[in-house]
Amino acid sequence: MKEEAVIINLPKFPDRRGNLSVVEEEMNVPFKVARTYWIYDVPGGEKRGGHAYRRNRELIVALSGSFDVMVDDGHGTRRSFRLSRSNYGLYVPAGTWRELSDFSTNSVALVIASEPYDENDYIRSLKQFKEYVRDKNGIGS
Ligand code: TYD
Repeated sequence: MKEEAVIINLPKFPDRRGNLSVVEEEMNVPFKVARTYWIYDVPGGEKRGGHAYRRNRELIVALSGSFDVMVDDGHGTRRSFRLSRSNYGLYVPAGTWRELSDFSTNSVALVIASEPYDENDYIRSLKQFKEYVRDKNGIGS
């Protein structure tokens, strides 16, 4: 069965000195971590993402502030998640179109990824993404 984008509730250790949350590979994310990057200083109204990956899987966490993540499975199901708390992550399976938008001031998006950076893993056109999903699932599915 095809995997779906899902919110993962991460451990949170509340403390009078402040909270602590953690992601451990294959425990809180269903993959081995190859890479971590973050998106920050996003000007108001800008969008990031707007592509899919063939193999890369991700966990996206709002470390600060808030933003929307829209995911599209290529079969006509589009969902939007507003990330605003540092102890929740959005797991995005491979083969998912995703766009990040509506960043609040000073927001920081942490992205934990299953694959090293590879431009050839990107599908940057929505039309090509839909064709990719259709071809992958075979005619008639
Ligand atoms: P990109 O993934 O295209 O960002 P977005 O989808 O938000 O527009 O990455 C932007 C640039 O950063 C791109 O030129 C390649 C570079 N980049 C790396 O070199 N390594 C990475 O791990 C990532 C995510 C991006």
